[in-house]
Amino acid sequence: MTGPADWWRHAVVYQVYLRSFADGNGDGTGDLAGLRLRLPYLADLGVDALWVNPWYPSPLRDGGYDVADYRSIDPRFGTLAQAQALVAEAHALGLRVLADIVPNHTSDQHRWFQAALAAGPGSAERERYWFVDGTGAGGDQPPNDWPSVFGGRAWTRVTEPDGRPGQWYLHLFDVSQPDLNWGNPEVIAEFEDVLRFWFDRGIDGFRIDVGHGLAKDPTLPDLGLSGGDEALLGVARGENHPYWDRPEVHAVYRGWRSIGDGYDPPRVFVGEVWLDEPERLAHYLRPDELHTSFAFELTDPDWDAEGFRTAIDAAMAAARLASAPVTWVLSNHDLPRHVSRYGRPAAVRKRFGADAYDFTGLDVALGRRRARAAALLSLALPGGVYLYQGEELGLEEVLDIPAEQRDDPLFTRSAGTLPGRDGCRVPLPWEPDGSSLGFGSNGAWLPQPRAWAGLAASVQAGDPTSMLQLYRRALALRRSEPVLGSDSFTWRPSRPSVLHFARGEVAPTVEVLVNLGADPVHLPAGEVLLASQDVRAGRLPADAAAWVRVTPSLRSPP
Ligand code: GLC
Repeated sequence: MTGPADWWRHAVVYQVYLRSFADGNGDGTGDLAGLRLRLPYLADLGVDALWVNPWYPSPLRDGGYDVADYRSIDPRFGTLAQAQALVAEAHALGLRVLADIVPNHTSDQHRWFQAALAAGPGSAERERYWFVDGTGAGGDQPPNDWPSVFGGRAWTRVTEPDGRPGQWYLHLFDVSQPDLNWGNPEVIAEFEDVLRFWFDRGIDGFRIDVGHGLAKDPTLPDLGLSGGDEALLGVARGENHPYWDRPEVHAVYRGWRSIGDGYDPPRVFVGEVWLDEPERLAHYLRPDELHTSFAFELTDPDWDAEGFRTAIDAAMAAARLASAPVTWVLSNHDLPRHVSRYGRPAAVRKRFGADAYDFTGLDVALGRRRARAAALLSLALPGGVYLYQGEELGLEEVLDIPAEQRDDPLFTRSAGTLPGRDGCRVPLPWEPDGSSLGFGSNGAWLPQPRAWAGLAASVQAGDPTSMLQLYRRALALRRSEPVLGSDSFTWRPSRPSVLHFARGEVAPTVEVLVNLGADPVHLPAGEVLLASQDVRAGRLPADAAAWVRVTPSLRSPP
């Protein structure tokens, strides 16, 4: 790939949830063959790169975030040769490809874990993970009180090769995802080698799963938490947490950065780092660590102007501390789709836990209208943007997946009290008909709503008013309007329910307005480049956004 080395600073990256993107071999599961066929769609959309969720051999107990072999492709998704062909074809279309690396844990099917089980206590094999004796009489109590992010405790007891109840191993996620011991140099060396393996095959970079994880306090102290969903993935301020955001993790990333920098062009990293404190997030974005990390702030508020304003300021403050660009995201494979988030009645909500899935009173049409505006908001902010597959089609969260078809461990480990993340992972509709709306030739692994026929990509492609066309035009303008690729950003005075900011220091600027109030608002005088709803008589309706090019009026000659 040619192009500027800092392409990632303003890139729009499309997240491909491979299982649900396009099925090329008719087995109901998305795959590399399907993705390769649809690459022209992504090039037409106008994105700069794609991030492909884990494609490695996996029991798929956690959608592929349970990796059994980091140097290969799951046969359900294709072959290594297909992955290399994908990279070559994407590059030929001007698209970069980021893969997903899962360093906090492996699958329990990984050869290392299997070897650790077989080798028994005290072995070098067990030192790659966290195998610990239990407490209490006969060691039948877990080593400490750590909870699993997916519910239940983070420790499971194994049966030793001699048949006796034995040690416990740590799994901050599912029982099938044992945590690696990053205090062991062998683990460090292994992952550095895995990075080289994929970089040598042309991968342009990695998204790092649970980037604030990896290192653990080896004394394994109790958390003493009373629980609470919010505490599970995040870190309380100022806390010396035994497994999130430990200082030791930074040396790992410095090693990774130097490997990535050794390639031409340099390879890039985006971290999934859940931290609320800007100073701590900024540590990950130091010049010799990660290039970017997701700004999850924008996923926090529902449809709330003050919430967005706070989120934008917080994300920009964190990035400024590290001179890094912000990487905006509205949705991903872990969060309920934002069409549905914005279509529910105003309420206090949380990112995780039961409240995140409360869709009582949902108005999908309203949510979709607001999602159009949110697209123009996120795509007008300085920095990079990650789009989650299907948001360009305006897909909503699927709420009625039958229990027996639900696949997410969050559902099973919470004993069904949380619906889990399947509702945002439903296969895409490409055509208005067929057994899976063009996803593949033979059904889909999760049921698609019938109404999605009307949202199919082929239907929207021919409709100038569609969500897909809005995204295409926004992405084209991002490229053609130089100020949208700059770092400049200035809030303009506005009423509280309106977000108004300018891009560009000197005229012509692009003024961005998002109307979250109930009444129409006047747009500044200028050329409306793009609006999410019809603008009449210079007024922007409720739940809409517009980009306006404002040129100073020509001064009369002296
Ligand atoms: C990340 C992934 C999520 C996965 C978890 C454990 O948060 O985005 O899908 O379940 O890590 O790997």
